[in-house]
Amino acid sequence: MDYKEIEQEMEKTYDGISCKYLKMQKDDWEDKKYVNSFISYLKPNSSILDIGCGTGELLEYFSSLGFKTMGIDISREMVNISKKRVINSRVFKMSLYDVSKIKERFDGVVATFVFVHIPKEKISDVIKSINSKLKKDGIFFTVFTTSLKEGLQEEMLDRNYKYYAVNYSKDEIIGILEKNGMEILDVFSKIEINGVLTDIIISKKL
Ligand SMILES: C[S@@+](CC[C@H](N)C(=O)[O-])C[C@H]1O[C@@H](n2cnc3c(N)ncnc32)[C@H](O)[C@@H]1O
Repeated sequence: MDYKEIEQEMEKTYDGISCKYLKMQKDDWEDKKYVNSFISYLKPNSSILDIGCGTGELLEYFSSLGFKTMGIDISREMVNISKKRVINSRVFKMSLYDVSKIKERFDGVVATFVFVHIPKEKISDVIKSINSKLKKDGIFFTVFTTSLKEGLQEEMLDRNYKYYAVNYSKDEIIGILEKNGMEILDVFSKIEINGVLTDIIISKKL
C-alpha cells in the first residue's frame, strides 16, 4: 500500500470508530506528565498545532491552559468531535501530508500516535514539513509506537475496520529531527501508554 492508500483506509477507520475512540479515553491520561514537559518549554499564550488531533484531548488541555490551538485530522468525524469539544480551537479536516500549505507558524507542534500511520518512505518529508511550521526555537512533541504488529490488520476497537501500523525507533526519529536542524531536548524511552510501548521525543527548532 502506498501512503495515499493508507491514508484513505485510516480516514475510513477513524470515521467509523470515532465514538468508540472518544469513549476509550480516560480523564487521567497516562502521558500527561510528558505533555507537561513539552508545555514547560513554551511561553504563556503560545500557539500550538496538533497534527492528527483525533478527538481533541490535547487541544482541550492546551486550550484550558490558555494556549492558542489549531488541530488538523484526516477524519471528518474526529474533526467534528474535536470542534464540539474545544469550541475556541480551530480544527480542520486536512491531510498531514499538506501541513506545509498552512500559512502560519507555531510556537509548538504535537503529533501523538500519528507516525504509526506514516510509511517509512514518507517520514522524512513529514518531519521536514512539521519543522517548516515551527517558529525559531519552536518545540516539537511526538509520541510514537515502537513495537506494534506492523502492516494492515484488524482494528482492535471494531473488527469491521482496518488499522495500518508502522513502528519507529528513537534513533531513526532523532536522526531525521537532527538532519532537519532540530535539537533534541528530552527523550523518554519504552513508555507504556494504554498498553502500547512508545518512545517520546521533545525537540527544538534551532
Ligand atoms: C491513533 S489516533 C491519535 C489521535 C490523537 N493524536 C491522540 O493521541 O489521541 C491517529 C489520528 O491520526 C489521524 N490521521 C491518520 N492519518 C492521517 C493523515 N494522513 N493526515 C491527518 N490525520 C491522520 C487519524 O484520523 C486519527 O485521528
